[in-house]
Amino acid sequence: MISRFPHLIDLNDFPVSWWNKIIDLGHDIRRHPQRYTHACDGKIMGTLFYEPSTRTQMSFQSAMIRLGGSIIGFDNPATSSVAKGENLKDTTKIVSNYSDILVMRHPLAGAAKAAALTADCPVINAGDGGHLHPTQTLTDLLTLKEEKGRLDNLNIGLCGDLVYGRTVHSLCKALSAYPGNTFVLISTPQLRLPSYIKDVITASGSKYTEVTSLDEIIGDLDMLYMTRIQRERFASEAEYFAQKDTYILDRKKLSKSRLDMIVMHPMPRVDEIAIEVDNDKRAAYFNQAKYGMYVRMALIMTMLESSKGTTLLKGIVHHDCRCSNPKCITNTEEYLPASFIGIGDTVECEYCDERKLLTH
Ligand code: NCD
Repeated sequence: MISRFPHLIDLNDFPVSWWNKIIDLGHDIRRHPQRYTHACDGKIMGTLFYEPSTRTQMSFQSAMIRLGGSIIGFDNPATSSVAKGENLKDTTKIVSNYSDILVMRHPLAGAAKAAALTADCPVINAGDGGHLHPTQTLTDLLTLKEEKGRLDNLNIGLCGDLVYGRTVHSLCKALSAYPGNTFVLISTPQLRLPSYIKDVITASGSKYTEVTSLDEIIGDLDMLYMTRIQRERFASEAEYFAQKDTYILDRKKLSKSRLDMIVMHPMPRVDEIAIEVDNDKRAAYFNQAKYGMYVRMALIMTMLESSKGTTLLKGIVHHDCRCSNPKCITNTEEYLPASFIGIGDTVECEYCDERKLLTH
């Protein structure tokens, strides 16, 4: 199924040259913001946030306003017709006709792709459940470029909730496309990176190791990506409390790292980075949040200028089958065509990417 609009659902739907173009444009906007103040005059961005957000939502809004455009939308579905039972298809269809571009965050995996199937304008995925978060990755790439000067040959540590952390998933997929990067995945056994992301790393020729101790490897890293334990994605509070506070970066731990290592975090931070770290010159997370606004300005401009359509579904639609992942959008919005791609002896859902067996 090909849409006539460009949609950013997964960065890997676009070539690396496209990401680099956006990063370079973000870099230029940061240096010369006054050159871009009328780039989106008369354009309207709709923000549909079905899940809480501070940085992503407000940096998108600020980005559009700084480009001369305007914004509409909701940040709480309870105050929209979603509370009356409106489905995703109808909300998206309607708001896409009020907007030139839509930005959507949703608690279920595959929701942005589902929205793009019916939207009459480009859709940007601002986070779909525990799945992907491509615009945070653009933010992270611009941060690395500005703070480390390169996107390749980096030894990258990712620490915390690697199973539910969508920022980690998108970042691993993106950084494995640049040569010479290696990944150190630091988590408890319960919070390990999903195998479909590890497969992407391996297929790219990059290497990863899985460890449980941050102290032992912090001295080897160029960048440490700390993450919040994603409380809202656990099946029970007990499971969350069993993981909470496993990794806390404090000044003592940081002192074992190289002076040129940087610490990144998509934010919000709960307690995984002690406040005492904030004044260390390795702490890059506040700058990172600011880079997010510039890169989103670059993304909005690029998407509004592009007339290239996006292929949304490539696989086979099975009318009699559902994805077995309960957190996949296809199990809530049941009108969606369930589409799967065969991989070896398994099938991959085209919305949530998880390899599961079909359930009839
Ligand atoms: C992240 C998210 O929403 O996935 N936040 C963000 O967008 N900067 C990370 C998180 O919530 O922990």
